[in-house]
Amino acid sequence: MKRLGIDFGASVMDVALEDDGEIVQTWYFPSGTFACSDAGLKLLLVELNLGRLDEVVATGGRSAFLADAVAATPLRKIGEITAIASGIRKLANYAKPMLGVCMGTGTAMIYDDGKQSTFLGGSAVGGGTLLGLGKLLLGTEDYDKIAALARLGHADQIDLTIADIVGSSIGKLAGDVVASHFGKVLKKADNARADIAAGLIHLIAETVALIAMGQARQFGLDEAMVVGRLSENKQMQTMIMRSGRDHDFRFVLIAQASLATVIGALADRHSNGD
Ligand SMILES: Nc1ncnc2c1ncn2[C@@H]1O[C@H](COP(=O)(O)OP(=O)(O)O)[C@@H](O)[C@H]1O
Ligand SMILES: [Mg+2]
Repeated sequence: MKRLGIDFGASVMDVALEDDGEIVQTWYFPSGTFACSDAGLKLLLVELNLGRLDEVVATGGRSAFLADAVAATPLRKIGEITAIASGIRKLANYAKPMLGVCMGTGTAMIYDDGKQSTFLGGSAVGGGTLLGLGKLLLGTEDYDKIAALARLGHADQIDLTIADIVGSSIGKLAGDVVASHFGKVLKKADNARADIAAGLIHLIAETVALIAMGQARQFGLDEAMVVGRLSENKQMQTMIMRSGRDHDFRFVLIAQASLATVIGALADRHSNGD
């Protein structure tokens, strides 16, 4: 069985080819390279030139409005929330009730009890925020350039910490915990671009981590599974893990995080556009 999975993300379109149950090849394209439409799909298949396929599965974007076949190949539509949850379960081999965090253009949070996936909302702070604020503050919306700058920078030059305000820790909160993201900017004449980039990543990591921990604890969980392309950023990972440790919480970073949604769509054999 040869099946093609497509995740129409808001920033990136991920495509994966499955042959006899194994992912054998993946591609990604900036969103809009191929429209999320019947015509766009046809163009993609022509471009990939994979020969006969048994099935195409699509998730994300406006995929729910696609026809039920592309050329002569049946097309199945999978709800994005189900796809993310299935992808996490498959990649992490995780069977317990879980809080899934998908850090893409925005950040989706999902509770999955093993039977049903529920979209909890999440945080509109995510990868789009990094690129948008990167454009405004750093003059570049190029992910790789922003990430490279951030690696050279120090968020503590930008963020106002508890110790900056009170000179020490407060109760359980260590002195180096951030009290105000970007708060230190006001105290300085100049800020290095690299520090601003690091501060941006810190802002996103902390915001997502705090919301995820709050959501997880509502379900009695003290861990969360993290996927999405933005979660592959090493600095983001370090900051999220640290935030978890500060709050006795465990974030599980999942390998192949950027492919979770498309892999989940391929793994889900039943749903159709839910
Ligand atoms: N090569 C890349 N191209 C574009 N965005 C990237 C890349 N690597 C990391 N990113 C970050 O990941 C985000 C997109 O994550 P992704 O999981 O693909 O989301 P979506 O499914 O919403 O398109 C971007 O907003 C950007 O911040
Ligand atoms: Mg995606």
